[in-house]
Amino acid sequence: MRLLESRLARQLMYRVILILVIIASSVILSEFYLIYRLQVENQRQSINQMMHTLQPILSQSLWNFDDDAVKSLAETMLINPHVSGVIISDDTLNVIAQLGEIDPLRNISFAEEGLQSQNSRIIYYSRIIYTGLRSKETLIGHVVLAITNEGIWAGLMPALKIQAGIGLLALTLTGFFYYRMLTNDISKPISKLSEGLANYRAGQIHLDDISITHDGLQNNELSDLLHQYHHLLERLREREKQIRAHNKNLETEVHQRTEELLITNNHLLESLEKLKLAQQELIEQERLASLGELVSGVAHEVNTPLGVAITANSFLWEEVQQVAGQLTQNELTRTQMDSFMTSAEESCQILSDNLKRAAELIESFKQVAVDQTHEELRTLQMNSYIRTLVRSLQPQMKRSHVTIKLDLDESLTVTTYPGAIAQLLTNLIMNAYIHAYNQGQTAGNIVVSCHQVNNLIQLQVRDFGTGMDATTKAKVYEPFFTTRRSQGGTGLGMNIAYNLVTQKLHGKIDVKTEPGKGTAFLITFPSQAEIHPSAESLKRH
Ligand SMILES: Nc1ncnc2c1ncn2[C@@H]1O[C@H](COP(=O)(O)OP(=O)(O)OP(=O)(O)O)[C@@H](O)[C@H]1O
Ligand SMILES: [Mg+2]
Repeated sequence: MRLLESRLARQLMYRVILILVIIASSVILSEFYLIYRLQVENQRQSINQMMHTLQPILSQSLWNFDDDAVKSLAETMLINPHVSGVIISDDTLNVIAQLGEIDPLRNISFAEEGLQSQNSRIIYYSRIIYTGLRSKETLIGHVVLAITNEGIWAGLMPALKIQAGIGLLALTLTGFFYYRMLTNDISKPISKLSEGLANYRAGQIHLDDISITHDGLQNNELSDLLHQYHHLLERLREREKQIRAHNKNLETEVHQRTEELLITNNHLLESLEKLKLAQQELIEQERLASLGELVSGVAHEVNTPLGVAITANSFLWEEVQQVAGQLTQNELTRTQMDSFMTSAEESCQILSDNLKRAAELIESFKQVAVDQTHEELRTLQMNSYIRTLVRSLQPQMKRSHVTIKLDLDESLTVTTYPGAIAQLLTNLIMNAYIHAYNQGQTAGNIVVSCHQVNNLIQLQVRDFGTGMDATTKAKVYEPFFTTRRSQGGTGLGMNIAYNLVTQKLHGKIDVKTEPGKGTAFLITFPSQAEIHPSAESLKRH
C-alpha cells in the first residue's frame, strides 16, 4: 500500500499525532521549566554560598585597605560559572576592583540585597559589613555581581536534546503503528464496504459479489457494522427474489387484464352499437308519436267542416225529398220551388265551402306529415308553415286554457328542412303545454315568434309557466332526462330538438329559464340551409 493512501487513517493519524505532539511538548516544556527553576535555585544558592564564604575575607581586606587582596577576591568570584562580571567598591562607591562584563554602579537598589535586575540584566548586590569590637557593624563597601544564565543553559541543553529525541522517536513509532492499525482494522474494511455498495448501486455487481469477510477483525463496532451489512445483503437478496417473482406475477396479471379489457371493450362496443340502434328506434318512435299527434289534430280539424257538410247534405236531401213528393202529387207551387232553389243553393254553397276547407286542411297537413317523414330541403313561407303546424297542435289543447300566440315576420321565405322545423316546434310547444302548464291544467300563453336578422332566422318558443330549476336546466338536452317518466315522458324530446338544430339546421339553441317565471327557447339558424354560418356570426346573435 502506498504511503498514507487511506484518507480516513491519514486524517485520524494527523489528529492523533497533533494531540501527541501537544501532550509531549507540554510534558517536555513543564519538565524543562522545573529543571530551569532548579538550576536558578542552584545558581542563587551557589552565589549565596560563595558570598557567605568570601564576605569575612573581603570585609577584612577592605578594612585593611588591601586593594590587591580585594582584586584577587574579585577574580575568585569571577571563577563562579554564574558570574560574568564583578564590581567591588568602598562605602563611598569608589570602585576598587572591576572585572568581566558589568555595567557601572547605576540603577541599583542599595536598600535590598540579593538578586535584582539592572538595565534588563540580572545582578547580585551585597553590602560589605565590618564587625568591630563589641560587635559594632560598619558598612565599608559594596559588591555587585553580573549574573549570567549561560551556566543554566549549559546544564539544561543536553537534557532537552535527549528528551526531544526520545519524543520524536516515540511520535514516529506511534504514528507508524497507529496508521497501520487504522488502515488494516478500519479503513480497509470500510472502503471495501463502500466500494461494494457503490458497485451495487451502479448495477455492476450482483449482490452475492459484494460480501466482505470479517476474518481478522476484532469484536468491535466495525464487526457489528459488517454483521448488519451482511444482514442487509441477505434481506436485499430476499427482496430481489420477491420483486422478481412479483414482476413475473404482474406481467401475467397485466396480460390477463389486457385480454379481459379487450373482451370488455368488444362487449362495450357491441353495447354501444345496440344502444345507438335503440336510440335510433326511440327517435323513430318519437317521430311516429308526433306524427300520431298530427293525425289526431288533422282528424279533429277536418271533422268540423265535414260535419257541417254532412248536416248541409242531409238538409239538402230532405229538401229534395220534399220537393220530389210535391212534384209527384202536382202540388209544387212556384213559391215552394223558389224557396227550395234558395235552400239548395245555400246548402250547395255550404257544402262546397266546407269540403274545400277540408280539402285545404288535408292538403296542408299532408305537407307537414310528408315533411316529418321525408327530409328534403324545401323553400317555404315560414309564417304560413308555422300557422299550419300550430293549427295541427291546437286540437290537443282545445279543452285547456292554454293559448298559442304567434308573432311572425310576414313573408319570411326560408330554404330549410321543414320536417326538422315541424318536429322542433312540436316538441317545444308540447313541452311548454305539458311541463310549463301541467298539461293544460294551468292557464297561460305560449308565444311562438319568428324573425329574420340578416341571414339568420330567430325562432323562439316562450312560455310563462313553471320554469326549470338549475339541475333541470343543466340536463335539459341530455337524452332520456325527464321529470315526467311516470307520466310517460321519455326524455328524448329536447335531445332530438338539440340534434336537429345543431346537426340538421346548423344552428344553435339557447334556453332562458327561471323557476316560476317561465322558459324561452331561442333557436338561431341560417335562412338558407346551404349557407352554414360561422360559429362567430352565430355567437353574435
Ligand atoms: N317549457 C318547459 N317548461 C318546464 N320544463 C321543461 C320545459 N321543456 C322541457 N322541460 C323539462 O325538460 C325535461 C326534458 O324535456 P324532454 O322534452 O327532453 O323530455 P320530456 O318532455 O319529459 O319527455 P318526451 O321525451 O316525451 O318529450 C322535461 O322532463 C321537463 O322537466
Ligand atoms: Mg318533451
